[in-house]
Amino acid sequence: MSNEVVLKFHKVQKKFGDFTALKDVSFEVKKGEFFALLGPNGAGKTTLINCLCGLTDRTSGEIAVLGVDPEKDPVHTKLSLGIVEQEVNFDPFFTPMEILRLRRGLFGLPADDAYLEWILEKLSLTDKKDVRARQLSGGMKRRLMIAKALAHDPPILILDEPTAGVDVDLRNSLYDFLRELRTQKQKTIVLTTHYLEEAELLADRVAIQNLGETIICDTTKNLLGKKNRTLVIETCEDEEVRVEIDNNSLDLESIVANYPHVKNLRIHEPKLEEVFLEFTKNPKS
Ligand SMILES: Nc1ncnc2c1ncn2[C@@H]1O[C@H](COP(=O)(O)OP(=O)(O)O)[C@@H](O)[C@H]1O
Ligand SMILES: [Mg+2]
Repeated sequence: MSNEVVLKFHKVQKKFGDFTALKDVSFEVKKGEFFALLGPNGAGKTTLINCLCGLTDRTSGEIAVLGVDPEKDPVHTKLSLGIVEQEVNFDPFFTPMEILRLRRGLFGLPADDAYLEWILEKLSLTDKKDVRARQLSGGMKRRLMIAKALAHDPPILILDEPTAGVDVDLRNSLYDFLRELRTQKQKTIVLTTHYLEEAELLADRVAIQNLGETIICDTTKNLLGKKNRTLVIETCEDEEVRVEIDNNSLDLESIVANYPHVKNLRIHEPKLEEVFLEFTKNPKS
């Protein structure tokens, strides 16, 4: 990963009439990063992406895509970003291959069927490449959205809740593909999600957004470090007692003294979900 900032949000605000959907969003994404934007429904994740790609104008604040304000140079932004929108949107009467070829054409790029076929293969859509898109299942449509976003081979891929409705099996192969895009094609990847395991599994860094504000932005590792591990004591009476482990030190002697009938001991590792809940429940803590 380099130090080059490819996406910058600084005090971004967006109002819809009296309603403030984005209050103060500030974070940066570096080249080659896998970045997750986490937030509950209504946190403003999609609104932020819409401001980024020029679907909606921000009210105030700064946004830069590879150093350029998307409102000043929308063409540069469109070439730089591949956006996988939350809502499925393509012409259902075209085939996946036609949709991808058309997409490259829109960007004025030369045809490259080998590249498009590679994307379809990676997204397990090869056997559907010549059927009308309306015949695809929900999960296939979502994958076609990803293929469409990659058709012009942009350096930055933004995925807005990409795995909603994709079954677990294909979700894992999608994760592998995203990792491959990052490591082998040097893409920067930003994902919004409310699946916390997804962020934990994939992202180097995470920003948590709630009520239109960036509450915290840190490495996944540091965020997980904010919660202590817990010792779970199962007693012979089938009770479960949880003791937080401070500073990684465990006083086994006192545990044995306090719980003479221990059946089982296990350590519960912190989950991003717990950090997330803590920060979205009480943003100022
Ligand atoms: N065009 C719009 N007009 C009015 N309110 C909107 C519009 N788009 C989004 N909102 C509101 O902004 C808030 C953030 O929405 P959204 O960005 O879709 O959140 P998320 O993607 O995090 O679930 C929600 O309360 C939503 O109702
Ligand atoms: Mg959304």
